[in-house]
Amino acid sequence: SNGFITARAHTNIALIKYWGKKNDDLIIPNNNSLSLTLDEFYTDTSVKFSNELSKDSIFLDDVDISNSTKIVNFLDIIREKASISEYAYVKSYNNVPTSAGLASSASGFAALAAAASKAAGLQLTSKELSKLARRGSGSATRSIFGGFAEWIKGNTDNDSYGVEIENPVTMDINMIAVVLNDQPKKISSRVGMKRSVETSPYYNAWVKQCEVDLIKAKTAIKENDFNTLGKISESNAMRMHALTMSAEPAFMYFNNDSIQVINSVKTLRENGVECYFTMDAGPNVKIICKSKDIKKIKAALTKTFNDEQIVVSKPGCGVQFIN
Ligand code: DP6
Repeated sequence: SNGFITARAHTNIALIKYWGKKNDDLIIPNNNSLSLTLDEFYTDTSVKFSNELSKDSIFLDDVDISNSTKIVNFLDIIREKASISEYAYVKSYNNVPTSAGLASSASGFAALAAAASKAAGLQLTSKELSKLARRGSGSATRSIFGGFAEWIKGNTDNDSYGVEIENPVTMDINMIAVVLNDQPKKISSRVGMKRSVETSPYYNAWVKQCEVDLIKAKTAIKENDFNTLGKISESNAMRMHALTMSAEPAFMYFNNDSIQVINSVKTLRENGVECYFTMDAGPNVKIICKSKDIKKIKAALTKTFNDEQIVVSKPGCGVQFIN
């Protein structure tokens, strides 16, 4: 080969959300979170360390982003672990079926952690990879694993990592992403969650409720209980968004189209379609559904949205090397 190590990681959508850190530098969260890794959205990242470079050379979808301090700092962590000083050549591609809007730091840092650590000569277990990915972006902690994954919050760099809950997934579960806005988000999750921790009077209640929600969600997965998992995911997402609306200054990620999709989900449910929604730090809505209902849900959505805005995904696998 040309000396590059390439890794592929899939994005994940949290059913029990991570929203707030107790250590900003190490990215240690206040609550455990639970996610589903998706097969349709992934990042391929190739890395090579070279003594011919005088700085890191980083490309994302062929755009030069070498001045990204987030990525350079992350590469510094790997150089320190591996006791090397060479700079890296990084080439990363986001594979999303639509033009934009679902590119994810979760798949990005999970793929970078795997490719760069191996290229630096480290041989990390998936648990160690997960801790490393966490230093780039919290949600990346879970993208090392396929299917259902949990991020155990821990207290220190060493005990905050992801674990596989079930992979491959037994449950018939799909996610329909409704892509509503390709604009960069106005308030990043990093900034939004920090503001929620510091100013929402409901923050402690959120942390407590997540413990309850997580147990219910994990039981539902074990018992193959789709509707209980859907219900708890939907209410957990709304509880997270209540933290944005109760922050100072308040903010929200919903736009008019988000509300419209949420209402469609409720109407579909009233008509016997088993579906639920979740939302992250942007206006896109992700619908959780069974295979038998995909057609009906798509038909309802295409009354308002284009086919290209609707992306159906099954559960995906964990990080892999694809040299
Ligand atoms: C709403 O992982 O993007 O998607 O750790 O600051 O990089 P940083 O934040 P990030 O936050 C994800 C927030 C979320 C919920 C989740 O994925 O659990």
